[in-house]
Amino acid sequence: MTAPPVQAYRALVKELQFHNHRYHVLDDPLIPDGEYDRKLLQLQTMESTFPTLVDDDSPSHRVGGKPLSEFSQISHSLPMLSLENAFDSKALMDFDRRVAERTNEKEKVDYVCEPKLDGVALSLLYRDGMLERAATRGDGATGEDVTANARTIRSVPLRLQGDSPPNLIEVRGEVYIPHKDFDRLNSLSDKVGDKKFVNPRNAAAGSLRQLDSKITARRPLVMSVYGVGLLESAVKPNTHFETLVYLKQLGFLVNSHVTVATDIFQCENFYKALAEQRASLPYDIDGIVIKVNSLDIQRRLGTVLRSPRWAIARKFPAQEEMTRLLAVEYQVGRTGVITPVGRLEPVFVGGVTVRNATLHNLDEMARLNLCAHDTVIVRRAGDVIPKIVRVVKEYRLPNARVIKFPQYCPVCGSDIEQLPDEAAVRCTGGMSCPAQVKQAINHFVSRKAMNIEGLGVKLVEQLVDRGHVQSFSDLYRLDMDTLCSLERMAKKSSDKLLKSIQASRKTNLTKFIYALGIREVGEGCAQILASRFKSLEDLIEGPLEELVEIGGVGPVVARHIVDFFSESKNITVINELRAIGLKFDHVINEEAMSRPLEGQTWVITGNLDSMSREDAKVALQNLGAKVSSSVSAKTTQLLIGSNAGSKLEKAKLLEVPLMYEKEFAILLMSQQAHPRLNVEK
Ligand code: IVH
Repeated sequence: MTAPPVQAYRALVKELQFHNHRYHVLDDPLIPDGEYDRKLLQLQTMESTFPTLVDDDSPSHRVGGKPLSEFSQISHSLPMLSLENAFDSKALMDFDRRVAERTNEKEKVDYVCEPKLDGVALSLLYRDGMLERAATRGDGATGEDVTANARTIRSVPLRLQGDSPPNLIEVRGEVYIPHKDFDRLNSLSDKVGDKKFVNPRNAAAGSLRQLDSKITARRPLVMSVYGVGLLESAVKPNTHFETLVYLKQLGFLVNSHVTVATDIFQCENFYKALAEQRASLPYDIDGIVIKVNSLDIQRRLGTVLRSPRWAIARKFPAQEEMTRLLAVEYQVGRTGVITPVGRLEPVFVGGVTVRNATLHNLDEMARLNLCAHDTVIVRRAGDVIPKIVRVVKEYRLPNARVIKFPQYCPVCGSDIEQLPDEAAVRCTGGMSCPAQVKQAINHFVSRKAMNIEGLGVKLVEQLVDRGHVQSFSDLYRLDMDTLCSLERMAKKSSDKLLKSIQASRKTNLTKFIYALGIREVGEGCAQILASRFKSLEDLIEGPLEELVEIGGVGPVVARHIVDFFSESKNITVINELRAIGLKFDHVINEEAMSRPLEGQTWVITGNLDSMSREDAKVALQNLGAKVSSSVSAKTTQLLIGSNAGSKLEKAKLLEVPLMYEKEFAILLMSQQAHPRLNVEK
């Protein structure tokens, strides 16, 4: 029999460990995944041919082993403490004062600020550089032995880096699941009919406590370390920050936001800065942890009850809270989309008082399966619209009535429809639905459309409810008596409004096309259509193919345009407006031509393939658009790259027109001849 290839085996283990560290700790892979997998397979083949070769630190151990029947208990040599919480800056100042009172007057106290990762605590024990044991926190004194599971976590080194590892080191940190991996995990569990995980923390905790480590191995757990328990080593750090640097050298993942602060005000500033970034971080954090940097001062401060005196958690406002559902109401939008909205008992969450939460659509209602008066978990993260994440079924009232999505439009009673491939349910009533009429009129009179000043939402509501206005042309038939009969309308304001209505008779083609409220036709698109077709007749006649060819329109929008003009009701509306004497001739405006996106606000989300986001921003600005970083009701258009996240979700909710990168590239190309675009950066 051939001798085991000991050297080749060790070399391969080392090589795989190196790539593993680059990938999972440094987030900077050197080789493609396929190459890594091939090398791992090579290792596994060697191991099955020569089982005597297999070492404890073999990367093949990351796939899990035999299931356990139960976890054994481990008592921590040093207790795993918890942290005192500070919910406001005063509590932080009090902490700083207490530290000062217990230290020497002349002693200067530096702090280290770290994100407070929202996962589960784990302790790892290494003897002579090899991972020996891993334990959960448990009650702080005794935890569970989860060594087999910890071995499967790629960012947990099985062997420490460097030539002279400590004799004994116990490292502590947080195990968590990053957002994108959590989403993927939940969509996978969808397919096999598993129950979904409530949030990344629960998923991380459940995954770490699996008796079958093969299951843990398939969960995308990450461990980031934040401290040391036991330490027997020639190297002894003097500060907490030095400890973190040391841990990094040993091959652990240490959070990159860690900062040294020279006073408590800097800690508060770190808190504010991180609170701003919270929504865009790739993992959940629930605050920051502030620790006295000097280990000597830490020792002298000691602990009280089960928390150290040298550290405190400055917590962010909770993003999830529990409240009671009062009712579900339905809003009908301009294009007939019916959006269910949950009315809630007011609750303070994510830093604001929330009274309403979106229920998105029919599918979401089905997912939540709400009953009247349910107790629900509301989530508000960053500036994202509050959402009901789940029902607390345990608190459901006996015989509670299930809330069903209406079968007819809740405003006009028309049939509702859900188009294939669309999540939205729409009212088919069109202009016979007062809700749609109101929204359509609001849009028609808005500043960037017909610009009828003095005709606010409340007034439109009255005009429609009292039957004075049913279509756009009715606006031009309003008279003094009618307006004066409305609430809060005196002669002067009525007179002003009538003048404003008259003034709107003369407009241009862009504004008129935009005012019609064709689905997904924003001002940018209206501008492109106007300059291409020059007259409404030509646009109405324009075949689908011609529309699709135009840069910045795209096949979906083109379809909406064709559908809109093939509805005889819409043509009637246009003819009525023309009969009344509305002028919407195309006015060639040099300035507008050179800056076709003037007055528009764009937002970019996701990664663009063909250009950097910065280049896209400059190109948009050259065309006259403003580029903003967050989506609001004022956003004209959302430019979408790959991996778009919460901005896309918000834009859909606010019905902001969407443009994909391909369409954007065409829009840019169609403007290429333009001198302004050629401006040097
Ligand atoms: S230090 C005595 N640092 O928060 C200090 N803890 O109650 C002990 N946590 O479950 C912890 N991020 O797992 C520390 N950067 C961080 C942390 C952190 C998250 C968790 C920890 C524990 C809880 C504290």
